[in-house]
Amino acid sequence: MKEAQTGEFSLKPLRGKTAVITGGARRLGRAAALGLAQAGADVAITYRTSQREAQHTVIDLASFGVRAVALRCDVRDPKSVKAALKEIARELGRLDVLVNNAANYETADFEKLSLAQWDEMFAVNTRGPFLVSQHALKMLRKSRGRIINMGSLGGLRPWPRQAHYCASKAAEHMLTRVMAKALAPEIAVNCVAPGVIDLGEARASAFMKKMAEQTPMRRNGSAEDVTAAILFFATAPHFITGQVLAVDGGLGL
Ligand SMILES: NC(=O)c1ccc[n+]([C@@H]2O[C@H](COP(=O)([O-])OP(=O)(O)OC[C@H]3O[C@@H](n4cnc5c(N)ncnc54)[C@H](OP(=O)(O)O)[C@@H]3O)[C@@H](O)[C@H]2O)c1
Repeated sequence: MKEAQTGEFSLKPLRGKTAVITGGARRLGRAAALGLAQAGADVAITYRTSQREAQHTVIDLASFGVRAVALRCDVRDPKSVKAALKEIARELGRLDVLVNNAANYETADFEKLSLAQWDEMFAVNTRGPFLVSQHALKMLRKSRGRIINMGSLGGLRPWPRQAHYCASKAAEHMLTRVMAKALAPEIAVNCVAPGVIDLGEARASAFMKKMAEQTPMRRNGSAEDVTAAILFFATAPHFITGQVLAVDGGLGL
């Protein structure tokens, strides 16, 4: 019995904890949500347009025997963020891990990049994590919790056709470091910066093949690689804060 209890504890390091993943209905956010649920956390995901996928993800999350909810939240809109966090507090009662995952991505030639495109990118990728974190502070302080921002290799390396995306992610990396200092000692703040992640999309297969050849580890990343890094920061010593961890197979070296 004692052995079973010990084994259970090590497999469910987040039992009794609660996590929120913005943009968690699909792709990497969904994978992170499932990883956190598998580790025992009750999970709230937010979505903006993917309501149907969010409902499916909630069903899959609940299959791990945890509480799971999905809420609509537009991270650009302070009212929407406030309402979502209020609802999360009501539904789950506490918050231990916030994953700022929701983001925007597009390519554009520098000469043609419009102000609207620039502002939209920053509103989602930089102002969004700031707003959601600010509204989650009270609960995170109380639990001595963690914030995990989803950055990007594009925030560490310049990609010429993604000036707005790269700049917004670089700003998110700095926001991670600023928040780590500003919110210590109650809240640990870290960032996972994925490189090229292969989500199995057929239209991306030629690009993926080319990128795998250029990557020291000779493959692209997977959703599992990124989820493992998120789980690391969700369970790591609280002493680890302000770090930006590239998950890129060495591509950025
Ligand atoms: N995939 C990669 O290879 C890669 C590489 C480097 C970094 N990253 C980073 O890792 C994270 C996840 O990547 P991903 O490819 O899975 O992301 P994604 O599919 O581009 O976006 C994730 C979710 O963000 C949500 N979202 C967009 N605008 C929003 C808004 N205004 N308010 C609320 N939610 C909004 C969307 O929700 P709805 O669908 O509900 O509208 C979307 O499903 C992102 O931060 C991304 O920048 C990814």
